[in-house]
Amino acid sequence: MPVIAVIGAQWGDEGKGRVIDMLAEKAKVVIRCTGGDNAGHTVINPYGKFGLRLVPSGIFYPEATCIIGNGVAINPAVLIEEIEMLNQHGVDTSNMFISDRANLIMPYHTLLDGLEEDSKGGKAIGTTRKGIGPVFSDKTARLGIRAGDLLDKATFLERLRFVLDQKNVILTKVYGASPLSLDEIYQQYCRYGERLAAHIKDTTVMIDEALNREDVVLLEGAQGTLLDPDFGTYPYTTSSSPLAAGSCLGAGIGPTRISRVLGVFKAYCSRVGTGPMPTELMDETGDLIRERGHEYGTVTGRPRRCGWFDAVAARFSNRINSFTGVVVTRLDILDTMPKLKICVGYKVDGKTIDYFPSSVAVLDRCEPIYEELPGWQTPITHIREYEQLPPQARQYITRLEELISCPVNLVCVGPERKQTIHKMPVL
Ligand code: GDP
Ligand code: IMO
Ligand code: MG
Repeated sequence: MPVIAVIGAQWGDEGKGRVIDMLAEKAKVVIRCTGGDNAGHTVINPYGKFGLRLVPSGIFYPEATCIIGNGVAINPAVLIEEIEMLNQHGVDTSNMFISDRANLIMPYHTLLDGLEEDSKGGKAIGTTRKGIGPVFSDKTARLGIRAGDLLDKATFLERLRFVLDQKNVILTKVYGASPLSLDEIYQQYCRYGERLAAHIKDTTVMIDEALNREDVVLLEGAQGTLLDPDFGTYPYTTSSSPLAAGSCLGAGIGPTRISRVLGVFKAYCSRVGTGPMPTELMDETGDLIRERGHEYGTVTGRPRRCGWFDAVAARFSNRINSFTGVVVTRLDILDTMPKLKICVGYKVDGKTIDYFPSSVAVLDRCEPIYEELPGWQTPITHIREYEQLPPQARQYITRLEELISCPVNLVCVGPERKQTIHKMPVL
């Protein structure tokens, strides 16, 4: 039975949460693999509407085991708040586990994220200020504190003292900020540890057992491919890998066990924060997409930058993820458009190119070359069968398949579970 990775294929917020919420009906295990509470995964189902930050979007199925993998950076305060919110809505979270190897977001991470952004002035990345850059830097620098550390208070205290001494030097000497108190952080994180202890496990064991039973396992990616620190619009990226490969690593599953990789694309493009986005529309069409699509960040409420579908970026995304299938979300947002444009190449420095440049300086100078398709100008949110979509909508999907070089599995025509067209069923 399959292990399916659900991967953001653009700049995040493609609708990964809703895709997982739908597919999880048939899954035994759902694993959040990367990112942290910079993610905001919207799920609308009979329990209500949720913007999940850390808890896997499979949590609404009591028979599914939900795992926060080793690749996720966990802010325990945010996680506890989310668990309590879910419990208040009648959602059982007892079957949710946290990898003991997951790094924790500490108070100095969130503080430093803000201080670093402020110090960059006009070159700020526009991060979510959740401590993501600092926590993944510490992980790589071998200065991280992990969920499992909370289970042994004496070792935790020793480790925290060692790390905090260094952080307080940076806070006071580099940024002129006040030092943080060892005792306060220690007491606070011990309380978090007591609250979360029953959930903290070596999750590789339970994942391996599920794989050996041939259970359906879903890997829930976070962020989007073009925010990847290696392949995204560096340095305007996040700090953990949103790619399919990142999901393997963040769950502790070898690549040979992954049977399908679903790339989730919006029917157009959006981006929050700074950095190049060649098809961004700074005109009334961009405003129309933003307003029709309520394109405001789930986590920060910031307006998202909107633009036409970028097939150059999409092909690149497919190349570095090896998608086996595509999910197109938000097709309904284009319902009123008389004409649709798809970017099929870039003009830069007098040349025409058909690849996604690695340099943000070059990307900034890229001007999209568009192909135009007719719009359908009729509501599609009620449609459930692919053949019932207007011919112009099917033509748009077929053209995306050709340009991405990957078949479309699912087309989403509204935010709710049932508003999905199974063009080629995934499970
Ligand atoms: P994620 O981070 O990839 O899970 O995506 P977000 O939840 O941040 O953003 C996706 C937004 O689009 C949410 O508000 C969803 O409810 C909404 N959404 C997802 N799919 C569709 C769709 O097909 N149509 C419409 N209208 N909204 C959708
Ligand atoms: P989901 O999982 C959209 C963006 C931020 C910023 C950059 C770096 O909901 O798709 P960070 O806080 O990670 O250091 O910010 O990445 N970003 C996202 N954009 N969706 C997300 O997650 C994002 N997570 C981070 O806006 O530009
Ligand atoms: Mg989101």
